[in-house]
Amino acid sequence: MNEYHHFLRTRRSIRRFNPDPVPASVIDTILATATFAPSAHNLQPWRFVRIQSDSAKEKLGEALMAKMRGDMEAENASQAKIQERIAVSLRRIAEAPVIILLCRDETAIQKDEQEEEIMGIQSVAIAGLQLLLGAHAEGLGGNWICWSLYAQEATKKALDLPKSWLPEIIFFLGYANETPPNAVRKSLENLRITI
Ligand SMILES: Cc1cc2nc3c(=O)[nH]c(=O)nc-3n(C[C@H](O)[C@H](O)[C@H](O)COP(=O)(O)O)c2cc1C
Repeated sequence: MNEYHHFLRTRRSIRRFNPDPVPASVIDTILATATFAPSAHNLQPWRFVRIQSDSAKEKLGEALMAKMRGDMEAENASQAKIQERIAVSLRRIAEAPVIILLCRDETAIQKDEQEEEIMGIQSVAIAGLQLLLGAHAEGLGGNWICWSLYAQEATKKALDLPKSWLPEIIFFLGYANETPPNAVRKSLENLRITI
């Protein structure tokens, strides 16, 4: 196995960061690398929001937590459990050295067809992976967080995003303060057929 495969296989989700700041130039490099992802018709539907200020973090947290609270109440979770989950989530937002919200521009589509929309979503997801790999190349850890998908309109409104930008993925990035356990992967033998 050559070093590139080793590099790809050693990217892991990192959820705890040390507080060291990440230079802006490093973040720029990572985002620029993400834009080299392939995309359907080369439409490049990805858009990036760097959430840096305390006030922006607070607005993001409020938008996401309102939805989280509503969902947990609908599932009859206890108030104590809701409070605990929200406190942990808000702390993660507050402490994340870098937060990137990856959006899809819903106008970056060739035809108004469901398949084209799916291709746009697929393209943004690939840019998301490329972003995580770019972070890995810079010695940073990162984590893909799906919260914004459950609160797209609230997130858009809270951050006053352009109308056509749909929040899809949140990334927390920073220098790792944990060593994740070994990657758990299903055996390829159970995942493929040859025909
Ligand atoms: C579509 C998607 C959604 C994810 N959502 C979350 C999330 O909301 N919170 C989280 O901690 N990790 C999330 N993850 C990270 C996965 O849990 C992680 O990739 C998986 O457990 C494999 O671990 P690894 O990335 O270290 O290889 C998500 C990953 C993907 C691709």
